[in-house]
Amino acid sequence: MSAETTPPATPYGTLARAAVPSARKPVSLPRLRELHAAGEKITMLTAYDATFAAVADAAGVECILVGDSLGMVCQGLTSTVGVTLETMRHHTECVANGLRRSHGVAWLIGDLPFGSYHESKEQALRSAVVLMQAGAHMVKLEGGGWTADVVRFLVERGIPVCAHLGLTPQTVHALGGYRVQGKTDEGAARLKREAHELQDAGAALLVLEMVPAALSAGLTQTLTHCPTIGIGAGSATAGQVLVLHDMLGMNLGKMPRFVHNFMQDAGSVRGAIEAYVQAVKAVRFPVDAVHAW
Ligand code: KIV
Repeated sequence: MSAETTPPATPYGTLARAAVPSARKPVSLPRLRELHAAGEKITMLTAYDATFAAVADAAGVECILVGDSLGMVCQGLTSTVGVTLETMRHHTECVANGLRRSHGVAWLIGDLPFGSYHESKEQALRSAVVLMQAGAHMVKLEGGGWTADVVRFLVERGIPVCAHLGLTPQTVHALGGYRVQGKTDEGAARLKREAHELQDAGAALLVLEMVPAALSAGLTQTLTHCPTIGIGAGSATAGQVLVLHDMLGMNLGKMPRFVHNFMQDAGSVRGAIEAYVQAVKAVRFPVDAVHAW
């Protein structure tokens, strides 16, 4: 980097990685489909602020999810149920600012919080518009069944949607805790049906959280145009996602079994995230035996 392109030092860290834009192309939906078609794993990580988003992007993460998990890791709540749309808008904007200032290329997903898409399709559209105008490229919502109509409504209006099945934290009280889903024949059949309904409705990505590896492997094969992104769902999914604070070892409680602390062997946050990207791409993470549910 020449003196001309070196960003000036600032007392609070700098996001201006270089004056020249990155040579990497912005991640887009066609690019994600291309990766999937080529059999290359898609990497996703949560981020809630400008600096971590810029670092994750620089480390090569393709999709950054401003997850409502921020309720737990940033706000100190005991579940994601209390997270509001305004909070999600604020953090989505912070992340979008970070990516813009650092010439980031990541695909930015904003999580629709509990209660922001449940009343009607119109309410879902209004909420999705708030996150898209804050800088998201796609919104994520949880659950199957009635959500397929919501997904269709948003997709028809030009809003890409990531669906989320399995353990859906916004319904933790109805599920009776943070438990593996789809273990029974009936549960697995419902999950399969709902996944296909969401694909048919136009969902472009599907997060599968805490479901048996064999079930998510089967779904990954049969969902021909909706790549699956797993978290605690085995190694056969089209991609993986983790909560940033968990994979950096910043979890003072009992770490979920499916998480690996990438900070342990890394000298920096960026190094830890690069190790995560490399491990997912090489199918070294996750290790199926660790979470044979
Ligand atoms: O909110 C979140 O961070 C999520 C991921 C765990 C997938 O939904």
